[in-house]
Formats: sequence, structure tokens, C-alpha cells
Amino acid sequence: MEKLVIEGGRPLRGTVQVSGAKNAALPILAATLLTDGTCELHNVPALRDVATMIRILRALGVRVQQSNSTVSVDPRGYAGVEASYKLVSTMRASFCVLGPLLAKHRKARVSLPGGCVIGPRPVDLHLKGLRALGASITIESGYVVAEAKELRGAHVFLGGAYGSSVLATANVMMAATLARGTTVIENAACEPEVSDLADCLIAMGAKIHGHGTPRLEILGVRELAGVTHSVIPDRIEAGTYLAAAAMTRGALTVVGARAEHLGAVVDKLREAGVDITVVNGSQIRVRGRRALRPVGVTTLPYPGFPTDMQAQMMALMCVTKGISVITEKIYPDRFMHVAELNRMGAQVMLEGASAIVKGVQTLSSAPVMASDLRASAALVLAGLAAHGTTEVSRVYHLDRGYEHLEEKLVTLGASIRREKED
Ligand code: UD1
Repeated sequence: MEKLVIEGGRPLRGTVQVSGAKNAALPILAATLLTDGTCELHNVPALRDVATMIRILRALGVRVQQSNSTVSVDPRGYAGVEASYKLVSTMRASFCVLGPLLAKHRKARVSLPGGCVIGPRPVDLHLKGLRALGASITIESGYVVAEAKELRGAHVFLGGAYGSSVLATANVMMAATLARGTTVIENAACEPEVSDLADCLIAMGAKIHGHGTPRLEILGVRELAGVTHSVIPDRIEAGTYLAAAAMTRGALTVVGARAEHLGAVVDKLREAGVDITVVNGSQIRVRGRRALRPVGVTTLPYPGFPTDMQAQMMALMCVTKGISVITEKIYPDRFMHVAELNRMGAQVMLEGASAIVKGVQTLSSAPVMASDLRASAALVLAGLAAHGTTEVSRVYHLDRGYEHLEEKLVTLGASIRREKED
């Protein structure tokens, strides 16, 4: 295993390019399973999760080639219908091959993903949506076995206790593209990654209306063709760099981001006193001021503040004088980073699904352990701002979601290196 060693206290300065969005690339790679032609996907980030999805496609019999940020997928003639526990358990997003496999082959066998450190993560909404389309679904030895003579359009409400679901919307939307008749998904997720998937499906020949809104309408077609598509930029990666600049009191230009996808994050950072200028929609200039203000943050489905930025925002509030309250409404247990931030001298107290953060002057370095992707990002931010040398272990979590993280940070003036763990 590897760790990151960070000498903190250096303000980040310069320009950073945002990579393609992991959470858009993964379902789009799954969507290629619906087509009868070759697909060329651009701006695909070279990440561990993308590699996992490519392994799943290959295991199904799909030919995939990867060259830099372009992935060429040739699904013609693939016959596999199973995604194994070994692969699905390493990445929940693998579960979104279920809808495409079912639509294409009328049969699919996909391992249940199970829980993860950010809490129990059920798949009931995925199954509800696919059942509404006429699939018969059973659970056998930890696998979801889905079958259908034919999929038929249906009206389905995809809301759970925590609101809409990104991947359930993706799964059901993908299955509906090849169903007979019209499907309406109410309470659909509005995240930009769902819209990017819809745009890609439309380019394949799907008939979809209303993406980006809570009411999706999908008119089933007989077949989908190959496509060339460029994945949208990663709004969470962009947001992480904005927080990093604010936290180290540096000045960055984040290039290639779509400011329109970062509304809630930019709004909160501005409320905290961070100086942010959107230059032309795809360039965001950020300057961290010395005296920031505490804020209240509540995570919500898009366009609300993203849960995937909660940990990074908390890291920033840890060094912002005053009391901030951060409430998690998507994953109430997603606070694994709190204990580690406190080991670095932060003062965070948990009260149910809220964290009460009392800002301190500075954080002190410490060996810390990453528990999940975004928690790891928060620890890296804390390390960049702390006095002394911070070691973040289990860095493989970061490799799931941040392309060339150390290289990008080093270019911005950070002192960060990767070492083997003892
Ligand atoms: C996606 C993102 C993840 C992000 C999350 C919320 C990908 C690959 N991952 O995950 O980075 O943190 O959206 O923005 O895109 N739920 C149910 N039943 C279901 C499905 C979900 O109750 O069948 C609940 C979840 O437990 C959670 C909430 O709905 O409380 C939202 O989860 P969901 O949007 O489904 O997350 P993912 O799509 O798995």
C-alpha cells in the first residue's frame, strides 16, 4: 500500500486543468452495452474506478481500448450477462450495468454491491424501477437476477428516504431506452452526470426528454448505435481545487470546469468570504483570504450542495474562525473523516447527521488514514494547510477519483510525494 507525504503550509498558486467526470464516465461506459456499434469516448479520466468498469466490460466480452483520455469500446457481439461480486464489491457504480444488460439481453446477473464505509447503500430504487418496466427480479446467492420477456414503458416514482438516486435514475433510464413504449421517471436525479449520460444516449439514438429536471420521459427505440461523446468535466474535482486554494490561502485558476455545475459550491465558498470570479463559464479564479467566515452547509441532491464536497468543505471550516454547522442529508453516516481531522487538531463534534465545527487557527500534522474517496481528499487538503509533515495512508481511495492528484498539486507549488507504506 502507498501513502502520501505532505509538507504543509504552502499556498497553492497557478492554473489547474480539470479532468473528465468520473461519475459521468462510469454510467456512460455501461451505456455502451446497449449499442450495436463502436463507441469512442473522450475526456475519460484515467482512474481506478474507470479501470474497474473497463474490466467489467471486458469480462462481458466487450473489446475496449484505452489511450490517454480516449476509450474505444466495441460491444458488437458481446454475450456476457454477469457482473461478478469480485468486481462489483470494489465499486458500487458497477451496479449500473444491470439496466443495460437487462435491456439488451432480457437477462442479467449482477452482484449486489453491499454497504460501504459511508453507510448502508440500498439498491431498492434501482429494482423498483426495473420491476416497473416488467422485469422479474430475484436475489440469488448475493446476486440480483433480472429477467424479462420484454421491457415495457411505465410510469415510475424514483424517490427514497433521501430523495432521488443518481445511479437508480441512470439504470432505469438506460433500460427504458430499449423498452417498448414510453417511460416516465418522476423524481429523477437532476445531477449533471445524469444529463451527460442522457446526452450520450440521445447521440446513440435514444429518445429522452426532460433530463436535468425531475421528470424524465423516455420513448423506447428498437436499437442504439455507436457514438462519439466527450465526458463533462468533473465538478467535484474542480470544487476540491477551489477548496484547496481557499484553505491554503492561495490563488488558483481552475480551467475546464463548468461553473454552472458548481453553483451551490461557489455560493457557499463566497458566503465564507472566498474570492471567486467566474471568467467565462469554464474558468474559475479563486483567491483564499486570510479571514474567512463560518457557514452552515446542508448537503442535498443537485442543485443543492453535493455530498461529495462535504468532507472538503469541512476541512476548510476546520481552519475558519467561528462555528460552522455541516448537515449531511444524503448519507447521514458519512463522517469518517471527522476523527482523522480531529487527530490533526480540528475541533469537530458530531450531533446526529450534523457536524459542529469550531474553527482553529492552524491544523497540526499527523499520520492519518483515508477511509473513502472524498474523506481522503479532505485529509489531503488538511495536510496542505497544516504545519509540518502529514502522512495520508491508504491512498488508493484517492486513485479512484482524482486523476494525477500529486502531479497537479506539485505544479501548484505543493510539497507532496507518494511513498510505500511501511
Ligand atoms: C452517486 C455518486 C456518488 C454520490 C451520490 C450522491 C456515482 C458513481 N456515484 O452515487 O459519488 O455521493 O450519487 O450524490 O455517480 N438510495 C436508496 N435506494 C436506492 C438508491 C439510493 O435509498 O436504491 C439512497 C442512498 O442510500 C442515498 C441516496 O439515496 O442515501 C442517494 O444515493 P444515490 O444518488 O443513489 O447515490 P449513488 O447513485 O450510489
